[in-house]
Amino acid sequence: MYRCWIVKLTDCARFSTICLHAGQEPDPTTGAIITPIYQTSTYVQDELGKHKGFEYARTQNPTRMALERNLAAIEAGREGFAFASGMAAIGAIATLLKAGDHVVVSDNTYGGTFRLFDKVLTRYQLTFTYVNTSHLDAVEAAMTPSTRLLFVETPTNPVMGLTDLRAAAALAHRHGARLVVDNTFASPYNQRPIEFGADLVTHSTTKYLNGHSDSVGGIVIAVRDDDIEWLRFVQNAEGAILGPFDSWLVLRGTKTLTLRMQQHNANGLALAQFLSRQPKVERVFYPGLPSHPQHELAKAQMRGFGGMLAFDLGSLEAARRLLNAVRLHALAESLGGVETLISHPATMTHASVPADRRAALGITDGMVRISAGVEDIDDLREDLAQALAQV
Ligand SMILES: Cc1ncc(COP(=O)(O)O)c(C=O)c1O
Repeated sequence: MYRCWIVKLTDCARFSTICLHAGQEPDPTTGAIITPIYQTSTYVQDELGKHKGFEYARTQNPTRMALERNLAAIEAGREGFAFASGMAAIGAIATLLKAGDHVVVSDNTYGGTFRLFDKVLTRYQLTFTYVNTSHLDAVEAAMTPSTRLLFVETPTNPVMGLTDLRAAAALAHRHGARLVVDNTFASPYNQRPIEFGADLVTHSTTKYLNGHSDSVGGIVIAVRDDDIEWLRFVQNAEGAILGPFDSWLVLRGTKTLTLRMQQHNANGLALAQFLSRQPKVERVFYPGLPSHPQHELAKAQMRGFGGMLAFDLGSLEAARRLLNAVRLHALAESLGGVETLISHPATMTHASVPADRRAALGITDGMVRISAGVEDIDDLREDLAQALAQV
């Protein structure tokens, strides 16, 4: 017989301990320290009407449930619901709405979120107003008696605008609305919106939470009883669940979230400082720089400033030369993996945003975005230096 032992977290366990252990216990059958991949579609019942709490794998899967408990604890929420992608997670949040409801959204929200809201959900008598949520006066002005959600991203992609989370939560609640935060860019190591009053937090787990560029997934973390009950129902009813192998990958990812984020933050800051000193760089966008217009807010609500930064080389041609000259920086969309990625927002992530809207958001043709990975910073700096020499 194997001795059954349990790793227990105290109520005051710290962040990195929570990341490693929350939601998981050694496997009761073997003691395996890692939660197994329960690759099954159904569960055999003991007798008619008697089962072990598992009936069908869309509804319950032990690997997925371990991840959901883990991520709920990491975000200081109550329950988590894992979906097949970040977009499926945002789609599930949207089911909280009914025809006639209105949503206020960060104007610089992820393009896929805008596409879902603008091209799909407007067909269901839902309305959306896009405002710069860095300016809470604009948010206040956009709220109507039908507003049910205030949906924000902070920092925004790629211009790194911040929203004051505590003030945004208070504003939403004054209007009887929920604050929803897409926390993908910051990661919960750097920022935990529920601690500032957010009602729902969502992530593309594809990014920092998984962290290894080898899985696509999404999560919603909730605190309110009614939201928890509804999201559990919808996750099963719509069925866009995260599969067991991807759940296992993300669980493995969160074990090193603290270590990775410390390195992402250090590399992000070092690259932002390095770029700020380069004469060919017109402007650097990074909340960790004192030159960022909301640096004080960043210090107040973020524990680190993240691995995402952008900079402006002044023209499409200059950006093209740099992007074609880098060797270690991989030219690719996405973010949050251990490898450093570099991209051109105007023609890649934001290509579907009309040019005038891009201009209004401050996304210029000369802008380049970096997702700083965890490589040795000297190698990253050297690569950028040799590429800048060719601009
Ligand atoms: C901020 C943000 N939210 C949501 C998503 C959508 O996530 P997924 O690609 O996993 O559907 C992305 C994807 O890039 C994102 O950057």
